[in-house]
Amino acid sequence: MNESAQTLYQRLGGYDAIVAVVENLLPRLTTDSQLGRFWEHRGDDGVQREKQLLIDYLCHKAGGPMYYTGRDMKVSHRGMRISGTDWERFIGHVGDTLDAFEVAAAERSDVLAFIESTRDDIVEA
Ligand code: HEM
Repeated sequence: MNESAQTLYQRLGGYDAIVAVVENLLPRLTTDSQLGRFWEHRGDDGVQREKQLLIDYLCHKAGGPMYYTGRDMKVSHRGMRISGTDWERFIGHVGDTLDAFEVAAAERSDVLAFIESTRDDIVEA
């Protein structure tokens, strides 16, 4: 199979690689001085559940064999009042996580383009 025939899921290294990315990213978000407020006073189990949904969502959207059982991005973030500067910080952390794994340029740009495609459903203030 040539490189272009592979899904982004495969090119990123499959399930374990995507779990590792999410495990690196989430603590950056929850401890961020501006973004941390979104995860304040949430129970451990709720955070675990959300983490698994994020893994399933990213795997599914990247072409992996997962079925995403969560809500869509508009419904699940509605009312949080995520602002443009919240979004910029989020993207900054995604970039730092991709740097930490030395993700290659092609995959990096595909991941960032996918994340960016969800912006209008998530940012509302
Ligand atoms: C500044 C940006 C973002 C913030 C502050 C944020 C925050 C949150 C929070 C607090 C939850 C938990 C909601 C709940 O339990 O009711 C959540 C759920 C979720 N988020 Fe985000 N999020 C952001 C961006 C994104 C992006 C870019 C994606 C995917 C590309 C994403 C994917 C998800 C998924 C899959 C869930 C679970 C949906 C469900 O519960 O059904 N989020 N987000």
